Amino acid sequence: MAARGEFSSRMAFVLAASGSAIGLGNIWGFPIKVASNGGGAFVFTYIVLTFLLAYPILMAELVIGRHAKSDTVKSLVKISEGSSKPLAYLTGYWGILTASLILSFYAIVAGWMIAFGLGSAGDLVGASGFSEWLTSFSLERNLLFVCLFYLLTIGIVANGVAAGIEKWSTRLMPMLIILIIALIAYISTQNGAAEGWRVYLTPEFDRVLNPDLLLSALGQAFFSLSLGVGTMMVYGSYISKSENLPRLGATVALMDIGIAFMAGLLVIPAMYVAQANGVTIYNEAGKLIDSDGLIFTVLPALFDTMGGAGIIVSLLFFTLMTIAAVTSSISMLEVPVAHAQESHDLPRKKAAWIVGVMILLVSLIIVFNFGALFGFVIDLTTKYSEPLIGLLFCIFAGWVWRRDALLKELQQGNPTMENTLFWKIWPTYVKVVCPLIVFAVFMHSFELLKI
Ligand code: PHE
Repeated sequence: MAARGEFSSRMAFVLAASGSAIGLGNIWGFPIKVASNGGGAFVFTYIVLTFLLAYPILMAELVIGRHAKSDTVKSLVKISEGSSKPLAYLTGYWGILTASLILSFYAIVAGWMIAFGLGSAGDLVGASGFSEWLTSFSLERNLLFVCLFYLLTIGIVANGVAAGIEKWSTRLMPMLIILIIALIAYISTQNGAAEGWRVYLTPEFDRVLNPDLLLSALGQAFFSLSLGVGTMMVYGSYISKSENLPRLGATVALMDIGIAFMAGLLVIPAMYVAQANGVTIYNEAGKLIDSDGLIFTVLPALFDTMGGAGIIVSLLFFTLMTIAAVTSSISMLEVPVAHAQESHDLPRKKAAWIVGVMILLVSLIIVFNFGALFGFVIDLTTKYSEPLIGLLFCIFAGWVWRRDALLKELQQGNPTMENTLFWKIWPTYVKVVCPLIVFAVFMHSFELLKI
């Protein structure tokens, strides 16, 4: 078997894992969900669910991954004994399938980001006809750019963890954060922004238990932290034994929430500013007219108000978004590729290309049947598969894996683990409380249980 890669430092892991977590989910997906689910109430529920559920499950994935140092299927099998092995295979393969399906829709949206970035470059050099084509949602454009995005993703994954993933994650985050903060400052000078912030920051608590909102926030909490597909388990398997896992996990979770929250502070007011400038966002029934295209409508409208500088800001924004999408997509592709490499002995390069092209074919099917498949695949993977697989991960960390072995794993990198608050609470919490929360949200949203 090929030697396993490892992140070269704590910082490298934090950047790679945050790179996975921070992506279209934060900046494209989160604002759409906020805007379709009543503003502040969604923000509140999402944040609560991230703390109560997503962070503990992130820890389960990281601990299992680092212990087994293997791909998802092998990792789960390693901590299982006898009768739980079939469940380990089922969970592992379900995760691999879900990661692949997520990539299949994600790459389409990422392709839009590349196209909009190039569109701004076209504006800059005065090629406005070309820019218009790039920013229209035509079939040809979508096909071209989804392929381009796969080339990027596969090319990086083919080169392996240390060489490929680390390099891309290092420079991006600070730039993205600075740009978003600058845009938030700019938007505060615009008409309508204050109304956006009011909607975003004042939760109507009576909406919090709305079944659709809860299920949507549950899916978002999992999706945003890259949970319930095995990504974090595979990344965990590349962490050195000398690291303190609970702290690493907390850093990644806080960065992820922070960026999502900031993206909302930008996009929600941008909607109201666009509305004040005559763009229609909601229809008469109060539903978003084009939810998938929300940020592709309101952000360019905002950049337009900046005059010439807007073109440069737009170019920068969509370029950074493309890179943010790549650092996430490589972590999705890594799940099936790690499996092909470690369980089926395929060389990494070959594995990356074969698996990558197979998933590209799925994307093409979605592009050709966009109306029927796009939303369906998103709901299937993020609202249902991810939380259910997350629940299964809790069962593995809490019920299947022996507690003394779990403690031993956590003690590496933190010898006093046994006396920490984390150890006093977390094992029982993932064992009992996390599965119950997921179960309750599902029951509630199918109206089988009233919370
Ligand atoms: N967390 C990523 C985002 O917010 C998406 C993702 C989901 C990445 C699942 C890996 C696995 O964009």
